Amino acid sequence: AVTGPLELDALEAEARERLSRGVYDYVAGGADAELTLAANLAAWSRLRLRPRVLRDVSEVSTATTVLGVPVPTPVAVAPMAYHRMAHPDGEAASAAGAAAAGACYLLSTQATMSVEEVAAATPDGLRWFQVYVVRDRGWTAELVARAAAAGYRALVLTVDVPLLGNRLRDLRNDFRLPTGLKPANAPPAAASRQRELAADVIAQAGQFDPGLTPETVGWLAERSGLPVVVKGVLRGDDAAACLDAGAAAVVVSNHGGRQLDGVVATADALAEVVAAVGGRAEVYVDGGVRHGTDVVKALALGARAVLVGRPVFWALATGGGAGVERFLAGLTAELRLAMALCGAPAVGDLTPDLIA
Ligand code: FNR
Ligand code: LAC
Repeated sequence: AVTGPLELDALEAEARERLSRGVYDYVAGGADAELTLAANLAAWSRLRLRPRVLRDVSEVSTATTVLGVPVPTPVAVAPMAYHRMAHPDGEAASAAGAAAAGACYLLSTQATMSVEEVAAATPDGLRWFQVYVVRDRGWTAELVARAAAAGYRALVLTVDVPLLGNRLRDLRNDFRLPTGLKPANAPPAAASRQRELAADVIAQAGQFDPGLTPETVGWLAERSGLPVVVKGVLRGDDAAACLDAGAAAVVVSNHGGRQLDGVVATADALAEVVAAVGGRAEVYVDGGVRHGTDVVKALALGARAVLVGRPVFWALATGGGAGVERFLAGLTAELRLAMALCGAPAVGDLTPDLIA
């Protein structure tokens, strides 16, 4: 697709106009003083590139593989809850936009469409399923089996939400999901609590199991027959423990600054995790990735792919599935240009020496 330059500030401003205050703040916001939210963006900006010259860059390819599956771009869509707050076509539209751009799509457990509906909308797109393990383990086992049956190729176990972070904007706004929306895959709560839980994001997170351990990784792999990616790792020792427990990959993530505030920016945590993993598994990263140069920096530091969150939500809110495709294709076009200007015609040429 032909795209203009990415105008992310304008995209967010347009989405903000269309969305209610509560929805905009829920998506844009972070925990507490939003230190980490800002730090994620700043850390990518702070890194400086050392481009090579006189490399033949007449052909540049952004193609790579994730967990052995070829993809035309290392940009993937981060799992985000409640896409029908952005657009009535919800996750079906964002997944279709991702597929059109060749980007791997991560569907959230908290999606407003079922795993089967989203699969039907993108039968050929590469899809992974993000798992929140809830206290009702039987229901989680059933859900991941459904995801496997519906053609999701990996599970992404999110481990940084034993409890929901303290999101001051949501508390001030007394945020509730817009009328009629609820997580389509939610476990059947007791009937009397159903309505309250359906609208209350904090109450929903209260169903997540805070008792997870590394053994949960093996349990999920066994139930689903799928590789398990652990999302929300910021330390080398934790990454190593995940791999020992059977994880196929880890995502360096602080949940976009929405959980523990004051944690290290992901651009700054990446190198430690890559070193600890030592090539035994793939490492992905998310949090504040906004430009092609950010993707170059992430891959140079050893990430195999990046996940992008909020801008996808803004693109969905303003342009539906086509908007998501335009954004992802535009980010990939920026990546291609940045690779050419770095003297790196293939993703394998993105090595640590490119970072000052
Ligand atoms: C998220 N994130 C998230 N993560 C996850 O594993 N499951 C989820 O359901 C959600 N839900 C969610 C909703 C919204 C509105 C946002 C903004 C984020 C976190 C997400 O996957 C990712 O880690 C960050 O959003 C990445 O940071 P950026 O790109 O938004 O800065
Ligand atoms: C969030 C949860 C739902 O970040 O992942 O809002």
